[in-house]
Amino acid sequence: MITDARALRPQFIPRDMVHRQGAIDQMVSIIDPLKWSVSSDNISIFGPSGSGKTTLAKYVLRKMERSHLDYRWGYVNCMSESSKTGALHRVLRDCRLGQDIRRAGTPASEYFERIREFDGVLVFVVDEADVLDEPELIAALADMEGVCLITICIDQDEFHASLRDQERVRSRLRAAETITLDKYSYSQLSDIIRYRVDHGLDAGRVDDEAVEYIADIAAGDARRGIAYLRRAARHVQDGSAETLTVDVVRDVADDAQANLRERRIRYLGTHKRALYDLVEAGGPDGVSAGELHQEYQKSVQNPKVRRTVRRYLDSLERYELIESYGSTSATRYKTIGSKAAEAARQT
Ligand SMILES: Nc1ncnc2c1ncn2[C@@H]1O[C@H](COP(=O)(O)OP(=O)(O)OP(=O)(O)O)[C@@H](O)[C@H]1O
Ligand SMILES: [Mg+2]
Repeated sequence: MITDARALRPQFIPRDMVHRQGAIDQMVSIIDPLKWSVSSDNISIFGPSGSGKTTLAKYVLRKMERSHLDYRWGYVNCMSESSKTGALHRVLRDCRLGQDIRRAGTPASEYFERIREFDGVLVFVVDEADVLDEPELIAALADMEGVCLITICIDQDEFHASLRDQERVRSRLRAAETITLDKYSYSQLSDIIRYRVDHGLDAGRVDDEAVEYIADIAAGDARRGIAYLRRAARHVQDGSAETLTVDVVRDVADDAQANLRERRIRYLGTHKRALYDLVEAGGPDGVSAGELHQEYQKSVQNPKVRRTVRRYLDSLERYELIESYGSTSATRYKTIGSKAAEAARQT
């Protein structure tokens, strides 16, 4: 059934990114290598989860790699690594600069020095940029000569609002070229799913109706659509069904959804993961903001300041891993969709 599992992996960058030609062209024209000697513009990509933001950035930068020698690019996802030096370490490592720098204890200035020393263009992708511990990093990188900064996050207004007291960062973001992706339409999503069927599965064993059904229930989110397809394909592969039908998709839909959550949780950085685990431990009644903060202080080394913890909790909420409720003075948090939350719902 599965002929090429790569096509079903969430991080797979397809050879053809369908239905995003406008955004691809826009991005290529902004990072026009001909302009590099003069200046480099920065880019902000926005759009809902599963609209292809991360894929768009990686797709274009990888393509450019083939035709340009004098540039390097690096990527960091701030849900996994949100400290200033941690983020710098990741992007520089991808750029093959500063591999000799030890992560622990190296000041940010040393990373900046390496960037300045490099003779060529560096493109840095800061994904889920709204969870950076120190958003000033955005302004610092955006201002560097020879650096093109690409920030990615879901919602432009929320992002700007979260930077209320960071005028310098906001002004750099306002100056950046904006690329906004919308949710995929039903027919666009059908094409994306069908492409994965053709490239990763024995297409003769996949019902057309099943593809349409997946495109329908994934509601514009390609990540969800591919997760349904992956689970359903595995179901057939295991011998639990002959062909991939609408019924198979129905049977595996909840599992696929749970699997997406687990993946998100697995990639959380240490502090966000600690917070998530503490909220989860609160069970169906959740945990108060005060208690959560106290427990967090005890459970990690070098706990972050309250303001940063707040940003982390906001990001966990945005990704629908937790929810807050109660009044502002007595906010409580609980998990959404976790096993504990589901058990509570069913009783
Ligand atoms: N136009 C497309 N053609 C083919 N595959 C796509 C396309 N857009 C997205 N995908 C696939 O859908 C999945 C989700 O895309 P991606 O991770 O880029 O979304 P995102 O907007 O970054 O979402 P999130 O905000 O949740 O990180 C990936 O597996 C990607 O390969
Ligand atoms: Mg992404």
